Amino acid sequence: PKTFYFSRHGESEFNVLGRIGGDADLSPRGRMYAAALARHFNEAEVHDLHIWTSEKRRTKQTVAGINATSEAIPALNELDAGVCEGYSYEEMQDKFPQEFAWRDQDKLRYRYPWGESYVDIMHRIRPVLLELEREDNLLVVSHQAVLRCLLGYFMNKKPDELPYMNVPLHTIIKLTTSGYKTHMEVIKLNI
Ligand code: F6P
Repeated sequence: PKTFYFSRHGESEFNVLGRIGGDADLSPRGRMYAAALARHFNEAEVHDLHIWTSEKRRTKQTVAGINATSEAIPALNELDAGVCEGYSYEEMQDKFPQEFAWRDQDKLRYRYPWGESYVDIMHRIRPVLLELEREDNLLVVSHQAVLRCLLGYFMNKKPDELPYMNVPLHTIIKLTTSGYKTHMEVIKLNI
């Protein structure tokens, strides 16, 4: 059996403001999650633990205290919201009502102008999934949309379900895989 851990980054300053995308720092609460995550993994002494993050500040800050080597992988960056980067959903609805409606009608395939769709993410994470097959005791710290696609793959979700999967903040999802069987454990850290 192989073990993989997945987590979103700790709460960011953009999460607090309800803004999407960007490259914000962790909020005070997000920093508390980073500390709790470090305590969790440093105490667990996982053999040969290593970490993959995205290139964003918030995922790197989330793993900074963990005693393990980490690598930043561009394919783990959050969905690129193109012209809508940095907006809240309310502002989007206000400034781009047609885009907002289209996204609502087909969230899986909808591509932001100058940005990406969930289908685009599914394509760009394929090499990551192949690479994952060769790994063990790996912690992946990424973002909501990308984790929906990664976890959805392991959980055999239908593509149309992916954009709606619940992947909460401040939670470790531990997957143990052997062959085609995957066991999932949800670890909520108290912060
Ligand atoms: O709000 C956090 C976030 O990671 C955004 O950066 C991203 O655009 C969004 O979630 C993806 O979630 P949804 O597809 O539900 O808008």
